[in-house]
Amino acid sequence: MKPIIFDVDTGIDDALAMAYALNSPELEILGFTTCFGNVPVEEAARNTLAVVEKLGKHVPVFLGAEKSLTRGMKERYPKHIHGEDGLGNTLDEDPMRTVEAESATDFIIDQVKKLPNEITIIAVGPLTNLALAVNKFPEIVSLVKEVVIMGGAVYVPGNVTPYGEANIVSDPEAADCVFQSGLPVTLVGLDVTLETLLPKEKLADWRASGKEVAPFFADMTEFYMSAYASSHPDIGGCALHDPLAVGVAIDSSFVKTEKLNVRVATEGEETGRTIGKHSGEPKIQVCTQVQSDRFLKHFLERIL
Ligand code: RIB
Ligand code: CA
Repeated sequence: MKPIIFDVDTGIDDALAMAYALNSPELEILGFTTCFGNVPVEEAARNTLAVVEKLGKHVPVFLGAEKSLTRGMKERYPKHIHGEDGLGNTLDEDPMRTVEAESATDFIIDQVKKLPNEITIIAVGPLTNLALAVNKFPEIVSLVKEVVIMGGAVYVPGNVTPYGEANIVSDPEAADCVFQSGLPVTLVGLDVTLETLLPKEKLADWRASGKEVAPFFADMTEFYMSAYASSHPDIGGCALHDPLAVGVAIDSSFVKTEKLNVRVATEGEETGRTIGKHSGEPKIQVCTQVQSDRFLKHFLERIL
């Protein structure tokens, strides 16, 4: 089993990614670290605790960054995509458990020190917690096995600006720090996540499964698909951004990659753009192609 630290800004597709990871025997989730992003960090932590509880699992949750490295608090959250509560307005009650006393940054550092060269970090929100960990204890760069990140748009347009993808735009300085740190990063960006599609008909199968968690996941995903339909009227479902990062952490043969030096634009209208070059060091693995049907099948076999 791969020991995993999973950094989330829970969010509907984060919740789907959590379920996929928690139901995958190849992964041992040591803890979820939370970040602002789709919702403020306290709500991301609450949602993360709620999803863990609904799945009947016992995994600790750590509170992380409430704001970006240098740009302060986020002004607006994407409620039209993830709902008022971040989970498509499905959250019926607060979780019973609370976050751990240790901060997300310290948890990352302590676990990496404890298990040198063994830990994979999956990060599917802004990269603030990871950048804070690198800045506080730079030695982790050579002690982490792999970092699989959902973020960026190297060869395709952005989704929150013409150039930028949401996770990177939320904290461009943190993303640039992580990409330039020398961490062994695999970048699962819009280049590949927009090639994935969860068709709407699958939600009927979930509901018909009779599983206790099925209505929760089907309702929230339906909300997410409705938001997608308003911007992509003919899509008939939704992309699986964060779940694809989990898929790649389990089986890297879902994607093809290119080794690029990636910088993040931090000024002007291109702020948040991920710019990949064949020259320059360090290089990271940028996903450029995905076997989307094979990935979807794998995801659907495990999500509930
Ligand atoms: O651009 C997609 C990403 O932004 C996903 O991680 C989603 O959860 C949002 O945070
Ligand atoms: Ca996310």
